[in-house]
Amino acid sequence: MDSLIIRGGNRLEGGLTASGAKNAALPILAATLLTAGACSLRSVPVLRDITTMLTLLASLGAKTARRQDGEVLIESDSVQAFTAPYDLVKTMRASILVLGPLLARYGQARVSFPGGCAIGSRPVDLHIRALEAMGAVITIEGGYIVASAPEGLKGVDFTFDTVTVGGTENAVMAASLAAGTSVLRNVAREPEIVDLVRFLRAMGAHIEGEGTDTLTLQGVATLNGAPYEVMPDRIEVGTYLVAAAATGGSLRVEGICPEVLGVVRDKLGQTGADLDEGDDWISLDMRGERPKAVDIVTEPFPGFPTDMQAQFTALNTVAQGTSRVTETVFENRLMQAHEMKRMGADITIEGDSACITGRSSLQGAPVMASDLRASASLVIAGLVASGETRIDRIYHIDRGYENIEGKLQCLGADIRRIST
Ligand code: UD1
Repeated sequence: MDSLIIRGGNRLEGGLTASGAKNAALPILAATLLTAGACSLRSVPVLRDITTMLTLLASLGAKTARRQDGEVLIESDSVQAFTAPYDLVKTMRASILVLGPLLARYGQARVSFPGGCAIGSRPVDLHIRALEAMGAVITIEGGYIVASAPEGLKGVDFTFDTVTVGGTENAVMAASLAAGTSVLRNVAREPEIVDLVRFLRAMGAHIEGEGTDTLTLQGVATLNGAPYEVMPDRIEVGTYLVAAAATGGSLRVEGICPEVLGVVRDKLGQTGADLDEGDDWISLDMRGERPKAVDIVTEPFPGFPTDMQAQFTALNTVAQGTSRVTETVFENRLMQAHEMKRMGADITIEGDSACITGRSSLQGAPVMASDLRASASLVIAGLVASGETRIDRIYHIDRGYENIEGKLQCLGADIRRIST
């Protein structure tokens, strides 16, 4: 099993280019099941979750290939299986995203029920309710969601009780091929949803309203294959910018429109960093100073993203001042705080909030990654700690960060991967 060894204390300095967004690529890959046509996708990041999704698509019968230039080619003209098995779903919850496309195109799907995970119970009841409203018959049998739509899916006017990214994605993919008009209300507005809708539109879907809380669709009988370039990863970019700020360093990231960072950009500004930007780049300079502490409350987009919460928690542990970080999207997503306390961080957990008093430094320690973004936050903590930090269970980090140690080494970090 791999671990990361970090000797902290180096300022991050330099530049990097954003990778494609994992959370956009996963639903886009699932959406290729909606067509028999060939899809060619650029900027699909090289990550464990992407490999899992490609394995799942191949197990259903899709032809998948990654060319040498990185382009991913998929053709779902010979799908003959309709089951997402437990072994794949347990390693990646986003496997649930094949449910809507399989049901819409083939009228049947069996997807293993995603269980609890490290950041809370994460139910999929709203995915199921939206598809049932479109006419699907869904039962739970032997740990599987068993869905059928013998007469096809039909358009629906459906309101989500809670804003859900994955639920919105499953519903919009299914409604693209449902008969008639669908109006989906209280949907997620994340940039990754906008990216999925743009891909579906390139495939011939009729959808309006992406980026707002209501999506209106006119279902079509068939969709075509399409070429598409996946959007850059705002969470990856945000993570490196926070890491640079925490170390008092400076960083320029190419290949991302800064607006997509939303409130993360505002919060970075509140740390006292100098920010500059152009159409497709953003830079941050902390001028060698300690960042100022910032308060965070996570919310669905356009609020502060839960996927950036742990990284700002790490920054706050070494910032000037006190801060409160409140997690409202997921239960149980402050686990990284306990590991950071082992590194000397002054954090008190009160319900869904972490109260943090910044220290001038942390001390390196052996720590354990509990989920993807928690792992990233421990890397940031390791970069600012004195001495050596060893992070175990970093398979979590490989799910979502392409070549993290390589990118950080280029920025001057003393970090290496070991296999034990
Ligand atoms: C996606 C992202 C994840 C991010 C999250 C919130 C992907 C692959 N993953 O996860 O990185 O942290 O959005 O931005 O894109 N809920 C229900 N019932 C449901 C579905 C969700 O109650 O049927 C609840 C969840 O428990 C959670 C909240 O809604 O409390 C938001 O979850 P959701 O937006 O669905 O997250 P994911 O799509 O799983």
